[in-house]
Amino acid sequence: MESMKPNVLVIGASGQLGGAILRRIAIDRDIAATAFVRSDSNFESPDAVNISRHTGDLTDFESVNAACGKNISHVIATASSIVPRKGDSFGADDLLFYENIIRACRENHVRHLIYISAFPSPFDDQVPEFVIKRQIEQMIVASGVPYTIFRGAAFMDIYFAVMGSRAVIQGVGHPTLLRGYWLSRLWSSLTSGILEKYGIALVPGNGKTRQSFICIDDVANCMLAAVNQPTLINQIIDLGGLQAVSWREVADLYGHLLNKRVIKIPLPIWLLKSLEMLMRKSTPAGANMMSILALLGHYEFAPDMSQLTNQLQIELSDSRSFIARKLTESKL
Ligand SMILES: NC(=O)c1ccc[n+]([C@@H]2O[C@H](COP(=O)([O-])OP(=O)(O)OC[C@H]3O[C@@H](n4cnc5c(N)ncnc54)[C@H](OP(=O)(O)O)[C@@H]3O)[C@@H](O)[C@H]2O)c1
Repeated sequence: MESMKPNVLVIGASGQLGGAILRRIAIDRDIAATAFVRSDSNFESPDAVNISRHTGDLTDFESVNAACGKNISHVIATASSIVPRKGDSFGADDLLFYENIIRACRENHVRHLIYISAFPSPFDDQVPEFVIKRQIEQMIVASGVPYTIFRGAAFMDIYFAVMGSRAVIQGVGHPTLLRGYWLSRLWSSLTSGILEKYGIALVPGNGKTRQSFICIDDVANCMLAAVNQPTLINQIIDLGGLQAVSWREVADLYGHLLNKRVIKIPLPIWLLKSLEMLMRKSTPAGANMMSILALLGHYEFAPDMSQLTNQLQIELSDSRSFIARKLTESKL
């Protein structure tokens, strides 16, 4: 008889979000999980009996098919090459990744594919990553595989680090910003800790645009909660945090918690867009970073999360408590 316990394949397990999903599964013995990782990955699985590992590569259909063939009931997919590792190209293979995932889900009758996409905006066509995400969404919707697509707002863990916070990145196993892509590493090496140490915050645009920042643990909780929620099947869901705050308000939260005056350095939209144009040919991943920062600097994304949180019985963290926790944990 088929077991009712969900058997989840986590694709993107060595990434920052995939790692958070696995850590949650490690303490939830009602779910079994297989982490899909590349052979040269430095991924360390949480020490839990309900988690195993499958080695493969998303460019290789057979390896994805073999993983899904292990009686997988649900696939949670967070993988992308948007912040490429050394040797990978920006976004080049993402469509192939998801073609292979969808085909393997179909062939193995996977019950539910749960995917993290990016928040919607009228400017999607100006952000290369968002163009790719929308194409992947269309492929999933058209595939006939039951799906839930979360369109995530900016992650606190990533964008507060981009502002200059070290606390949100310290102690993280595989931080996305340090994956190996030279520009995100350079940005981090120049700016990591300037918020805590010198009270300097980098703010996209004039810093007044509000974002519904969400922390990665909350994204992980929502994706996992979808596993047992038939009402979320075949839904595309906007996913934000508890409340929308501006970049300047985030900087002030650090100021209050650190008891420091924080100087906000604006990153003007014209500068971000010029850098994007300059980088477009030579370093597409960098151009993508600049275009997202420009978008986040002028376009507000603030979905109402009350219906989803009631439905999933989930509490979201607010920016203040997230920063306070990170500052305490990192002792900064
Ligand atoms: N940052 C945000 O604010 C935000 C907002 C909304 C949505 N998102 C989306 O959330 C998702 C997860 O983010 P993240 O920070 O966890 O990303 P990440 O740390 O960059 O992780 C990417 C993952 O994809 C895997 N991967 C790449 N190429 C692969 C291949 N050929 N075969 C197998 N695995 C491969 C990587 O494995 P390796 O370790 O082997 O490279 C890694 O595990 C991304 O799609 C991102 O676009 C992010």
